[in-house]
Amino acid sequence: MISYGSQSIDRNDVQAVTTTLKSKWLTQGPKVQEFENGLANYCGVKYAVAASSGTAALHLAYLAAGLKKGDEVITTPNTFVATTNMLLVLGAKPVFGDIRLDTYNLDESKIAKLITKKTKAIVPVDFAGQPCEYQKIRSLAKKHKLLIIADACHALGANYRGAKVGSLADLTVFSFHPVKSITTGEGGAVLTNHKNFYDQLLLLRSHGVEKDQNGFNVMTKLGFNYRLTDIQAALGLSQLKKLDRFIAKRHQVVNWYRKYLSDCLEITLPEEIPSSRSAWHIFVIRVKNVKDRLPLYNFLKKNGIGVNFHYPTVYSQPYYQKLDLKITNCPKADHYSQTAMTLPLYPNLTQTKVKYIVNVIKQYYRL
Ligand SMILES: Cc1ncc(COP(=O)(O)O)c(C=O)c1O
Repeated sequence: MISYGSQSIDRNDVQAVTTTLKSKWLTQGPKVQEFENGLANYCGVKYAVAASSGTAALHLAYLAAGLKKGDEVITTPNTFVATTNMLLVLGAKPVFGDIRLDTYNLDESKIAKLITKKTKAIVPVDFAGQPCEYQKIRSLAKKHKLLIIADACHALGANYRGAKVGSLADLTVFSFHPVKSITTGEGGAVLTNHKNFYDQLLLLRSHGVEKDQNGFNVMTKLGFNYRLTDIQAALGLSQLKKLDRFIAKRHQVVNWYRKYLSDCLEITLPEEIPSSRSAWHIFVIRVKNVKDRLPLYNFLKKNGIGVNFHYPTVYSQPYYQKLDLKITNCPKADHYSQTAMTLPLYPNLTQTKVKYIVNVIKQYYRL
């Protein structure tokens, strides 16, 4: 089976992990800070706080932003459930805006009408690695005094108008799950330029415990153990050195798909907007005829191709259906979710495999 995503691990990664395993520190040692500095430098921001997963990083970011019960947060329904689950954990309410059908990201022109007195933040999600329209989102946020907390779990390594994703929001969250731009096994991080957020993130990540003026540990906030280990951070540091190469290889795979699928008019290929450079986390095609989605999906699976589905709209999930949420109409997200299918994409996917996948698609359409 050709999986839809996969990590790229080489000898240097193994060496980095082994060296840390043999060192004094398995956790709470120097590698975490080194990894955080590496991430902050790469993205051109002041602070990075590593966490045990992207989900933990989201939870920390929302807490640091002060989100609480009753607050409304505008986001996209085309995301992984973690984006909004961590809002629910805090009693905050996700308010879903419709998506754009060129980028599949939250449609920035639909945000303003969703803003109420209870709105505290906007959570753009850089779906599939493609940055959202941050310029417009930022001017809206400024006008209405809202925070922007970017879920950029798909988009480490992406650029928007010359700036790195990670530097575009008040707080930005990354994930280092194996299918992501770089991996630490499980892992995540929050990036910010604000010292007050940084201090909160550090405190909340480790039980809410800090040193008092006499050097004793005191607990001042209700926190968690969301720490990343040094073993994972060593892997992350080693991976970070290869990030730009990984992204370049992802672009190469996308170019192969574009070339070989250009005459397959039954499907729509994803666009990359000119002002951005996508991290190409996933490659989502859309069938033009809704009826083709399931049979094509099954045909590809039967032929050993690990197609996937990102994402059913969050509000369609059984758990969300039972909640008392204000769901505005999101016809584009609904249409998207009935036509989308994710093809395999990862840095080491070979041209031969891409050709094979495309041939199976063409076989389905009898081309
Ligand atoms: C958009 C998005 N947000 C959050 C997460 C959660 O990240 P993690 O799996 O590292 O907890 C994911 C992971 O798939 C994701 O795709």
